[in-house]
Amino acid sequence: MGIGPRGFELIDLVARWIHVIAAIMWVGNSMLFNWMDRTLVKPAPGDTTGTIGTTWLLHSGAFYHVEKTALGGRGLPSPLHWFKWQAYTTWLSGAMLLVAVYWVGGRAAMEDSGVARLTHGQAVALGMFIVFGGVAVYELVQRAIAPRAPRVAEVLLGLGFVAMVIVATRMLNGRAAFLHIGAMLASIMAGNVAMTIVPSQRELVKSVNSSGSADPVISARAKRVSIHNNYFTFPVIVLMVSGHFPSLYAGRAPWASLLVLVIAGAAVRHVLNTRFSFAAWRVVLGAVLVAATVALYVLMTLPARVVGAAVGAPGEEGLPAVVTFAEARRVIDRRCAACHSMTPSDLSFGAAPAGVMFDTPEQIASHLGRIRERAVVTRTMPLVNKTNMTERERLLIGRWIEQGGKTAP
Ligand code: HEC
Repeated sequence: MGIGPRGFELIDLVARWIHVIAAIMWVGNSMLFNWMDRTLVKPAPGDTTGTIGTTWLLHSGAFYHVEKTALGGRGLPSPLHWFKWQAYTTWLSGAMLLVAVYWVGGRAAMEDSGVARLTHGQAVALGMFIVFGGVAVYELVQRAIAPRAPRVAEVLLGLGFVAMVIVATRMLNGRAAFLHIGAMLASIMAGNVAMTIVPSQRELVKSVNSSGSADPVISARAKRVSIHNNYFTFPVIVLMVSGHFPSLYAGRAPWASLLVLVIAGAAVRHVLNTRFSFAAWRVVLGAVLVAATVALYVLMTLPARVVGAAVGAPGEEGLPAVVTFAEARRVIDRRCAACHSMTPSDLSFGAAPAGVMFDTPEQIASHLGRIRERAVVTRTMPLVNKTNMTERERLLIGRWIEQGGKTAP
């Protein structure tokens, strides 16, 4: 007995719930520690206690005094709290989701014949290459090149990232492409925790045990990759929720939309990171937000790959001048109701994906705008055109909605 669509839906729910909670904890910790590093007050000159900085916090009705310290010969304190399971839980639950939703469970499309002709197996292999290949390239560049030529390493990683984005958006379903690039960045972050930060913390503990103090060289290495992680957080979060925005992932230039999201996320992080020593940060933050919003607006409103439904547009020959509800409904019944129904015949997504049903005229009428958006403009429905909707049918639906989308005769 296989797991079946209901089983995958349940795995999706449980893994997603855990994933979001663990990610909030991981990112929350990362933000708080980076924030503390930038607000610490340095000790008075001549201090020999090993203090690097201190700060006062007020939270939930109490004062907290935090000291960052190299321990100054005090030896290892106990108990000592490590932060790593938040990262590992986030990655493990995310990997489970990727498998249950995209690779095996069939809850979302990997391949898309409108983008490239790949079998499901080929698309999954490419998805694995993006996630694990991305981590491998990052680790290789970090270890082999970055210690000697940090600038060269940065340029290589930047170019490699753009190449991955182009490959992903040219070969996979747009939604899957965005998600896999997000999974790649997130796996690099988890890899940084598992392969650099935690091992150097072990070395740090060893150096304290042997000398009583922390070796600053070891601390610096962990800090460097943790700053990378800090810059990746905002881009990863937006990529993880990008599946709700078909105008971006299925627009005219998905690769450009993806790069705008990633660059804007990292730029906002940068401004927030540097704001303590940068007087004009509010102006720059505003400029980044406006520029990113304008760029996304332009990308979302670029003419779609399909011409609109105006009478006389190319490909419209033979369409009735006035489209009746009966004609539109026949198309919806034929191409959409397999999934969007109280009693769907295609159960791979469970009943009525996204809660959308087209069983009655009222249900159809209440979704006109989204029907046009998904079936006519972005052409992201039917999902990977599983029901073989024709170009003419899209234009017909488009014209019917353009003419008011009336469901009464
Ligand atoms: C093979 C199954 C399948 C078919 C056929 C299908 N859909 Fe969907 N639909 C989905 C899934 C899965 C989702 C949720 C994921 C998403 O939004 O991409 C969805 C979500 C939607 C949504 C809600 C999300 C939003 O963007 O507002 C609308 C509207 C929609 N589909 C319209 C249509 C229309 C119109 C058709 C027919 C032309 C259609 N679908 C055919 C599977 C299908």
